[in-house]
Amino acid sequence: MPKVTFRNPHALTVLDPRSIDVKKGTSILDAAEECGARVGHACGGNLACSTCHVWVHTGLDSLPEVADKENDIMDKAFDVRPESRLACQARVADEDVEVEITEESHRAWLDENPEERKRARG
Ligand code: FES
Repeated sequence: MPKVTFRNPHALTVLDPRSIDVKKGTSILDAAEECGARVGHACGGNLACSTCHVWVHTGLDSLPEVADKENDIMDKAFDVRPESRLACQARVADEDVEVEITEESHRAWLDENPEERKRARG
């Protein structure tokens, strides 16, 4: 089973990286949900918001090609790079994948989980 590892934005040390073994074909967003990684998903994985934007550091070549619609939605994201993917669209193949959660995605996750935002402020 391929492993998906999530690094936090800016290498936040207060949060440990999360990893999970998943079945081939699992989306990076579903993997995040299963292991509690903080990937935002304002549209619920319906390819309409770009808040699930992640940078893929390992395993990018094993992910399926970026579809035109994913590219269109990615235009809404900040700091898009060659290794950018929308986590709800990228499905894991056989190789392990390591991603970094973007700041915008982490912020969206905090918006979706206000109790965690309050806890982070102390
Ligand atoms: S969750 Fe909205 S585009 Fe991925």
